[in-house]
Amino acid sequence: MKISIDGQVRNLQAVWYENSTVHLIDQRKLPANVEIFKASSSDEVAFAIKDMVVRGAPAIGVAAAYGLAMAKEKGEDMEKVVTKIRSTRPTAHDLFAAIDYMTRNQFALSSARRYAQEISNRCKKIGEIGNPLIGQKSRVLTHCNAGALAVLDWGTALAPMRFAKIEGKEIFVFVDETRPRLQGANLTAWELLQEGIDHAIIADNAAGHFMHTGQVDLAIVGADRIAANGDFANKIGTYEKAVVARENNIPFYVAAPGSTFDFSLNSGNEIPIEERSQDEVKTVGIQKVGPQDSKAKNPAFDVTPARYVTAFITEYGLFKPDELPNLRLKMDRDLFMQGR
Ligand code: MRU
Repeated sequence: MKISIDGQVRNLQAVWYENSTVHLIDQRKLPANVEIFKASSSDEVAFAIKDMVVRGAPAIGVAAAYGLAMAKEKGEDMEKVVTKIRSTRPTAHDLFAAIDYMTRNQFALSSARRYAQEISNRCKKIGEIGNPLIGQKSRVLTHCNAGALAVLDWGTALAPMRFAKIEGKEIFVFVDETRPRLQGANLTAWELLQEGIDHAIIADNAAGHFMHTGQVDLAIVGADRIAANGDFANKIGTYEKAVVARENNIPFYVAAPGSTFDFSLNSGNEIPIEERSQDEVKTVGIQKVGPQDSKAKNPAFDVTPARYVTAFITEYGLFKPDELPNLRLKMDRDLFMQGR
């Protein structure tokens, strides 16, 4: 991902490994500052995932993969390290896919590098496959951040938009601000600016208005975990966007690599939903909002039933929810997905 820092353009990934240290773009500091967080122990990697220095399902997986390889090289007790990293965030399936991949490969650094490269390549492919869904002047709605910051490069939901831009399409993106952590306003809008893609940040509760008044042609979101029947978890607020999209006959696409699919779960009811701190709801940035004595509820994700999904955009192609058994067959034959 190209990032302009003080007028200089640098090519950075959301996560990388250098000098026996996991390097992460500190996503808590964007868009005001581009700072690199350096994790040199598994405790620091676990903190970075939990505190959302790094976030977004595929990027969490890559951070875990590098963290495990680093811990192994430093002689940490790997059983304890695996337990610690597993307990950081419960919803994103990529975390568990990465841990399984690394466990099968004896936590080798070369395997972590391969995992990272595969995920990046697969998300690029999602961009190629999703691009034809976007018209010459399409107006696209997205929620949360499913861009390069959430992967390594390219993104999932944003990858088709980046390909559309490269092809010269004049697209416009509605960016839901995504309370409480503001991943849309702070991260997606920042990425789109870097890419020169026209967009506007909208309050979360404005999305229905833009869909109802005919200003949105399609919606593309990412996912944190997709069950075998096509129900999927994504950032809180996704469900209501999908329902309003259906009400207004707007196609609703979910872009995700194979690592986000969890075929061990029959339906979305089985997806664990992370509950985060009340303080995230009672603050905007550093500004406190609401009576601090009031309680707050903060589920980080919701589950959207499969019936609202037009299709999943994956590296293997497009799949309607009832076609997921075909995707499963393809993943079963894919050596990388089998941990090799
Ligand atoms: O809590 P976050 O910021 O990790 O949640 C991220 C999302 O919900 C993304 O949409 C999802 O991980 C897909 S990222 C390619």
